Amino acid sequence: MPLLQNHIAVVTGAASGIGRAIALGYGREGARLVLLDINEKGAAEAAQEIRSAGGEAESFALDVTRREDCIAVAKQVADKVGQVSILVNNAGINRRNAFTADPGAVLKDWQDIMATNLNGTFNVTHAFLEPLLASKGRIVNIGSIQSFVHVRTPNSPAYTTSKHGVLGFTRALAAELGKHGVRVNAIGPGLIETPLNASVRANDPGLVKIFIDHTPLGRAGKPEDIVGPAIFLASDLSSYVTGSIVMADGGYRSI
Ligand SMILES: NC(=O)c1ccc[n+]([C@@H]2O[C@H](COP(=O)([O-])OP(=O)(O)OC[C@H]3O[C@@H](n4cnc5c(N)ncnc54)[C@H](O)[C@@H]3O)[C@@H](O)[C@H]2O)c1
Repeated sequence: MPLLQNHIAVVTGAASGIGRAIALGYGREGARLVLLDINEKGAAEAAQEIRSAGGEAESFALDVTRREDCIAVAKQVADKVGQVSILVNNAGINRRNAFTADPGAVLKDWQDIMATNLNGTFNVTHAFLEPLLASKGRIVNIGSIQSFVHVRTPNSPAYTTSKHGVLGFTRALAAELGKHGVRVNAIGPGLIETPLNASVRANDPGLVKIFIDHTPLGRAGKPEDIVGPAIFLASDLSSYVTGSIVMADGGYRSI
């Protein structure tokens, strides 16, 4: 039997990269998908791909930084699709300005990255809290190796802080919601080849080399490398796992 049968799964940032791969993977495991993304067209295409493969999927346009819109979409999903039992908070952005860069750029990075990666995770989780409680649901947040600090892999303080926040939020919610039967975990991807870092990979081979040289598996990851951990954390395979971060980083953080 498919691992996610009878589940309704929301994936944010599902138009592209890791979120899209997770949504497709959940579809293969029998979940009914709700794809949310600020990129309405990309989310609709991903939903169509799931349906073409025999799955069930709907998409909705959503900017996760807009709290009221998150609440409105959660209501629409409840009315049109049903009770959500899995939430993947994946929507995220990254920029790599150092704290000592142009002050205007640093401030904008901070505001945009916090609004999306951290407040967006709060907004969507809060909006879907009722069905997640009612279904004894599972929340999967997307952290990073930047949920921990690394001097080898320079990143913006805003991104690193936001991903620490995602891990802190994961642990805090796991502690509070466990008694309701809701499990909350995170995934920590390493360098995964997606549009998020396409320009860095094209223009800064030195940075990519720093990552790969420190990765025991000796390669960058693909979005598909995150799908197995995401299925594990959403399914009964992980029935006694909560408050954890599963690193899917080719071993980066272990050495
Ligand atoms: N690619 C990596 O190396 C890597 C590593 C660690 C963590 N991550 C995390 O994985 C997640 C997915 O990243 P990705 O690499 O697949 O990037 P991506 O750019 O391919 O996909 C991100 C998706 O999020 C959507 N999005 C951005 N802002 C949004 C908003 N305000 N509201 C709704 N949707 C929004 C985008 O439209 C896009 O579809 C992010 O949280 C990222 O921080 C990525």
